[in-house]
Amino acid sequence: MSQRGEVSATAGGVGATPAPGTPGAAERAVAAFVRCHGARPAYLVRSPGRVNLIGEHTDYNGGLCLPVAIDLELCLAFSPSPRATSGHGFVEVLSEHRAAPARIGLPPPPPPEPGSPGRAGAAQSGWAGYVEGVVVMAASIAGAAASRGWYGTLASDLPLGAGLSSSAALELAVARACAVVWDTGWDPIGAARLAQRAENGWVGAATGLLDQIACAAATAGHALEIDFRDLTVTAVAVPDSVVVAVVDTGTRRELVTSAYAQRRAECERAAAGLGVASLRDLGDRLPADAARRLDPVALRRARHIVTENTRVRELADALRRADLPRAGAVLLDGHRSIRDDFEVSGPELDAAVEVCRNTPGCHGARMTGGGFAGCVIALVDADSAAGFARAVVGPYRRRTGRDAVIHLCVPVGGTSLVDPR
Ligand code: GLA
Repeated sequence: MSQRGEVSATAGGVGATPAPGTPGAAERAVAAFVRCHGARPAYLVRSPGRVNLIGEHTDYNGGLCLPVAIDLELCLAFSPSPRATSGHGFVEVLSEHRAAPARIGLPPPPPPEPGSPGRAGAAQSGWAGYVEGVVVMAASIAGAAASRGWYGTLASDLPLGAGLSSSAALELAVARACAVVWDTGWDPIGAARLAQRAENGWVGAATGLLDQIACAAATAGHALEIDFRDLTVTAVAVPDSVVVAVVDTGTRRELVTSAYAQRRAECERAAAGLGVASLRDLGDRLPADAARRLDPVALRRARHIVTENTRVRELADALRRADLPRAGAVLLDGHRSIRDDFEVSGPELDAAVEVCRNTPGCHGARMTGGGFAGCVIALVDADSAAGFARAVVGPYRRRTGRDAVIHLCVPVGGTSLVDPR
């Protein structure tokens, strides 16, 4: 499989991928640490972004997903504070893009009661609220050990708001640092759940668990088949002959959160109408009388979830057999379903999928993530990848008036601790 350094192409617009020869996030995080603190960090965490190959909006329906962690990452360099002889410690994180640090006094406030609305105790907003939320949740597990502070600097190559899970990457990086300093061990699925509790219960975003598990538990060279009924994960090898092209359409939407909550409610309505606890319980097909029991919107939502679970199995199977034409067909069918039945695509995402599928080297493409804006993924022959990236930009601009940024990615492992030296 090609390495990103060889094939990465920022083919138009302003990309977040560092141009060849410029320092990546790991180097920048360490350099910022040295600049701020006059010493090298004791630790470095690498935390990847993710794209979902297929299995969209199935996570909160107890269904199946097939994400990959990608080699666009967020890195956190950090050191434990000296043990305090008196008073309390704190966690302090500086970001390369923000003047003010996230600073959380220790011990932090207790987590809110499960089920209470988010922002129950959040004092900080934006990215700092995510840091705070994870510190709160991690401290509630660590107990007395959470009096020891740590300080860090972070740098990221993940574009913000593009749906590549920059927030999950941040959450898992902070969780990893807390686990090291407070000596609580590292279980990727447990850490993903902790991060989700921070996002749901502290930040106040009612997302599923897909992003966090993908970032935490991924295996290099593989996609991760996740079964949300019991949180089992199975690594599925991605053939070396393809790369995952991530086409950032340059669109960002403000209303994604309310539309996401609406889709969740519609899925719950569909499940209730069909007499099941979760749409996963329907298996591979809708009941014959579904159209009579559901309103048209709920029917479309249920149809997407049921067929999407089947597509996850089909794509995993096609990848295992290295049947790339079949894999591409499943992606295209997934896009049709998310566009027509789940109705979370958008004109730019649709245009990008059309352009990708008509570009040589591409097996198939679909929008990825929550929807409405952000990125499209395409499965592209590694040999044709650089040409693909160059060829997509012009037709996409002609259709939408926007510049696409193409990242040619390979599947990497989940959040990990590496030597900062
Ligand atoms: C967002 C959420 C995930 C998942 C996807 C849609 O990324 O954070 O939990 O629901 O949308 O598949």
